Amino acid sequence: MTNEEIISRLEKTLKSSRLGHSIGVACTAANLAMCHDVSLISKAFRAGLLHDCAKYMKDDESIEFCDKHDIELSKYEIAEPALIHAKMGVFVAKNDYDEHDEEILDAIRWHTTGRANMKMLEKIIFVADYIEPFRKILPNLDEIRAKAYKDLDKCVVIIYENSISYIREKGRCMDPTTLEAYEYYKK
Ligand SMILES: [Fe+2]
Ligand SMILES: [Fe+2]
Repeated sequence: MTNEEIISRLEKTLKSSRLGHSIGVACTAANLAMCHDVSLISKAFRAGLLHDCAKYMKDDESIEFCDKHDIELSKYEIAEPALIHAKMGVFVAKNDYDEHDEEILDAIRWHTTGRANMKMLEKIIFVADYIEPFRKILPNLDEIRAKAYKDLDKCVVIIYENSISYIREKGRCMDPTTLEAYEYYKK
């Protein structure tokens, strides 16, 4: 599928604000690739467009969808269904968008929690999702945006610090992958 075909398909399933966010992530990811690894520019754009391609279902529909398609869910994903769209995104990207590039699929898979020792494209999408231009203003966003173009690993650490304190403040369930990854990048 071309990027234009992806966008017109996304237009049919996502809310317009989600589509705007996805385009924001795609452009930001391509820019980050220009800065950190030029060989990833077009994959970064594509992964950015697709990263939230499954984010159009309600919580119970997501759980049903996974059940129907044999997508295994952890107890953390069941407790925090907002996490599920990353795993489901891999399925939807393959089946509805004919995307089979492993690097792109991994970037979609890990964009919500990140993970220890992320590949460059995974890191780019993880960061771009947080800093894209249409993102609501979050604590230290200016600093995080500047850091993203200077030191991607340090930027990942600051994003984790923010996310972990947000999850704790709200009393939400934390996927252990998040903590593991934070410990990994802090070192
Ligand atoms: Fe997402
Ligand atoms: Fe997103």
